[in-house]
Amino acid sequence: MKFFIDTANIDHIREAKSLGLLSGVTTNPSLVAKEGVSFHERLKEITGEIDGSVSAEVVSEDAESMVEEGKELAAIAPNITVKVPMTLEGLKAVKTLSELNIQTNVTLIFSANQALMAARAGASYVSPFLGRLDDIGQNGMELVAQISEIFDRHAIDTEIIAASVRHPIHVTEAAIHGAHIATVPYKIFEQIVQHPLTEQGIEKFLNDWNNQK
Ligand code: E4P
Repeated sequence: MKFFIDTANIDHIREAKSLGLLSGVTTNPSLVAKEGVSFHERLKEITGEIDGSVSAEVVSEDAESMVEEGKELAAIAPNITVKVPMTLEGLKAVKTLSELNIQTNVTLIFSANQALMAARAGASYVSPFLGRLDDIGQNGMELVAQISEIFDRHAIDTEIIAASVRHPIHVTEAAIHGAHIATVPYKIFEQIVQHPLTEQGIEKFLNDWNNQK
């Protein structure tokens, strides 16, 4: 499983990149709004830093406008992936964008059927939202497992991005259940690098080294 970062914050993107393990970035309108910057300018900055997929979401609701918006976003850099919501109009837009060889990420996936439809429409990625399903008492990870099984069984090469990741256990379980990618907020990178026994071990090694006779 690869790591993407789920943010529009350029400092967090640079910091995660410096760890050497970052394969891409996902943004959404809420994350961009939080930054208070021009969307296109920020996408230029991000794609200047990151060679891998950078998801940028459309805000139109009809297929034709989504395609126009998607083409404008894709013109910013070759590694832009156009993020499209899981609707009937979104699927039509994905079909057209994929025929234009523009990468797409179908977002707000909450069922295996939605993921299968998105994949068959030509999506490069599907994004099941784990945390938001958990929030309403459903099992987000079960959804990742179902999508993974369906895609394997039918030799579908659309990649699964585990999204709406809220804590370290989501990361481990997404990897176990077959997500190709987990897109995680920066704070989760900080959390998963740590283990109390690692910190205690470093402290003991340094104490022993400094107190040697
Ligand atoms: C993914 O592409 C989304 O931007 C994101 O993971 C949504 O996460 P949230 O449910 O924590 O807002």
